[in-house]
Amino acid sequence: MAPARFLIRDAVESDLPRILTIFNEAIRTSTAVWHLEETTLEARQAWLRERRGRGLPVLVAELEGSAQGFASYGDFRPFAGYALTVEHSIYVDQALRGRGLGQGLLEALQDRAVAAGMHVMLAGIEASNVASAALHRKAGFEEAGQLRQVGRKFGRWLDLLFMQKILAASGGHPPAG
Ligand SMILES: CC(C)(COP(=O)(O)OP(=O)(O)OC[C@H]1O[C@@H](n2cnc3c(N)ncnc32)[C@H](O)[C@@H]1OP(=O)(O)O)[C@@H](O)C(=O)NCCC(=O)NCCS
Repeated sequence: MAPARFLIRDAVESDLPRILTIFNEAIRTSTAVWHLEETTLEARQAWLRERRGRGLPVLVAELEGSAQGFASYGDFRPFAGYALTVEHSIYVDQALRGRGLGQGLLEALQDRAVAAGMHVMLAGIEASNVASAALHRKAGFEEAGQLRQVGRKFGRWLDLLFMQKILAASGGHPPAG
């Protein structure tokens, strides 16, 4: 499919209905995300507020005036020793996949992580998610291990593949203190 022309920018409150639609579609139809129930606008509002409040990026890919994909990162594990490792996720509207939005979002997120002094980016990918694994491989992520049968959805066990990238440009500045 032809690459799309899109804009990557920080998410704002008015993007949340689109973010919710894209996220709930992934919950309903895929094992990309292991929620079993659709989520609500209020939950997404709280998520955006929490991420923004902590200075964590929430990005959208905008096309023809509305958000068609989003990406963000947060804690890998909430213990101080992991502070320079982030776990991210990326979702693109089904109708616009394969047109470069996922790659654009991942590159922009990586730039933010480097700017924030992060050292490692990590993606937890359901092991049969060929598109996500290929997207990450193309961006220089490497497979870092696979956990077997740690999830269950649609009546089957799910394996979790971790892919990681050590951010070369980052020396990994430890937070002060
Ligand atoms: C994974 C996802 C974010 C990729 O976004 P996208 O916009 O479709 O991907 P892009 O068009 O930017 O593709 C970038 C690269 O990823 C790889 N890729 C993307 N889709 C692919 C597919 N269906 N099969 C194989 N490789 C694929 C290719 O290497 C591609 O580069 P190329 O076009 O030069 O071949 C998207 O498929 C999606 O939202 N899936 C559902 C949610 C999900 O799985 N999120 C990731 C959770 S870890």
